[in-house]
Amino acid sequence: MAAARLSQFGVQHVAKGIGRLTTEVIESGSGSYVSMVGGKRYLDFTVGIGVANLGHCHPKVTKAIQSQVGTLVHGQVNIAFQKPYLELIERLLPMMPHPSLDTFFFWNSGSEAVEAAVKLARHATKKQNIIVNFGPLVPGIFSVPFPYCAQCSIAQHAGGKFNYENCCMDPVTQLELLLKRETAPSDTAAIVIEPVLGEGGYVPAPKGYFDRVREICDKNNILLICDEVQSGFGRTGKMFAVEHYGVRPDILIMAKGIANGMPLSGIVSRKELMDKQPPGTMGGTYGGNAVACAAGVAVADAFKEEKILENVNARSKELRGMLEDLRKDPKVGSMIHDVRGLGLMLAVEFKPSPKGSIGSKVQAKCKEKGMLILTTSIYDTLRFIPALNISKEDMAYGCQILKEAIEEVAAGEDPQETQTKGQALE
Ligand SMILES: Cc1ncc(COP(=O)(O)O)c(C=O)c1O
Repeated sequence: MAAARLSQFGVQHVAKGIGRLTTEVIESGSGSYVSMVGGKRYLDFTVGIGVANLGHCHPKVTKAIQSQVGTLVHGQVNIAFQKPYLELIERLLPMMPHPSLDTFFFWNSGSEAVEAAVKLARHATKKQNIIVNFGPLVPGIFSVPFPYCAQCSIAQHAGGKFNYENCCMDPVTQLELLLKRETAPSDTAAIVIEPVLGEGGYVPAPKGYFDRVREICDKNNILLICDEVQSGFGRTGKMFAVEHYGVRPDILIMAKGIANGMPLSGIVSRKELMDKQPPGTMGGTYGGNAVACAAGVAVADAFKEEKILENVNARSKELRGMLEDLRKDPKVGSMIHDVRGLGLMLAVEFKPSPKGSIGSKVQAKCKEKGMLILTTSIYDTLRFIPALNISKEDMAYGCQILKEAIEEVAAGEDPQETQTKGQALE
């Protein structure tokens, strides 16, 4: 089928509810680039929403997948152990943010792993309620605000006094109030936190927040669950984002980058907690698939052999530097509310514009210029998720496209009209 026909076929027969950045059809991916049916090539600053973290079709991962496909595809976990599953655990153990995290359970998707973590917390504590930073809520789930300094009402009225380096800690007060008013510690099994809020806008937790939450958890026998589905596996410049905060999670949730595109997720906790679940409590037909685990082993090896974290930190400085420079340009700076993030989990949040989303306009211009990027959050936020092993040259090319796109959108904006609500806080 020709490109246009294939695309039309997709529009006709694929669920509309999915929604997508483009109706073009991806033919292949290689490193930081994807090629579409019909020949168009894009620099990919989405990597499938932070999944193909080592670039598309990383040769070592592809080789491991090909080899495993010819050996064992499905070794169902309730039947027996299988080799790639155990090899993956062997590789992951030294990568964990705390040595107490030594017992694993693998699933397929991030959502399933979150469910598994909640189930474990309920079993282990014999308590029901869970506190989260995100809705919508089902019974037994309670929400407290994430410490989002760039949109915090207290910070906005404090004349720049509070920011990510110096948080007002109101979300901690709100957590303490929640434990008094709505879900008593004796009913609360766990609190689930993303160290860097993902879909909510690439917001890193401010300094000191995790220490306070850990204290509250310890005092009240509540488990701290870190959801690192998006922030894990090197995305923030450390293997796991929680390492930036030096805090020990009781349960860590992993997915996305763990197998560079194969559907794999997992939770890890300490053996004493995990062993509270009797045999038969956990399991699932496809969880911890052998081919996906083999890919995970290759990912872990590549992290070590290819000095991925060093690259993340070097490329992060370049991208962040470009964004900070743009912010200093009066015309562009007047429409930027915040530049934030860690490693290669970076974002720029624009001020609300009466002419519609600035982020979406920049996104469209980037696409015209040959680059895919994503927006996120209820605020006007563009997020940047390049491959963690992106080359210096490709990062420079991406920065050039982004800079041009943002400057062109700024040229069409009236700085007087762009609301001055809030100041960039970082
Ligand atoms: C932090 C976080 N947790 C959980 C999920 C859900 O993962 P999945 O889409 O694999 O179910 C996502 C997805 O983006 C995520 O970013």
